[in-house]
Amino acid sequence: MAIRNIIQVGDSVLRKKCFEVEAFDEKLHKILDDMKDTLVKAEGMGLACPQIGLLKRAFIIIYKDRLYEFINPVIVSASGKQKDDEACLSVKGKCGEVERPQKVTVTAFDRNGKSFTLKASGLFARCVCHENDHLDGILYIDKAVNVRECGN
Ligand code: CO
Repeated sequence: MAIRNIIQVGDSVLRKKCFEVEAFDEKLHKILDDMKDTLVKAEGMGLACPQIGLLKRAFIIIYKDRLYEFINPVIVSASGKQKDDEACLSVKGKCGEVERPQKVTVTAFDRNGKSFTLKASGLFARCVCHENDHLDGILYIDKAVNVRECGN
């Protein structure tokens, strides 16, 4: 396991559309394990593959002390609205207010290629949407209002 460098805004890798994961192998497991170490060290909530320079459709979230891994995720439904501040490990020191769905249902695969469906609401739903956007080259600052210095 290893800590990876978190790529910062301005690097074009953060603006690319990621490719579907096809091999649920040891190499993928190593990437996911490294992402977890990197996220824990950075004290973040979520981390997507392009943030460590890999154009793969995968992200991880740590929510309420539990690790969630999403491979080839698809948000299949969304409802309601919420508005709150967001930050991103690739946009250091800033935050901004973003409108997101209150609830989402996401389908994805786990690290072994098994599909699952997950319902998330509130902060967890916000995080799923934020990380999923990374896979399409979208950053929260593209959607935020009142982006400002926040000291994270
Ligand atoms: Co982010």
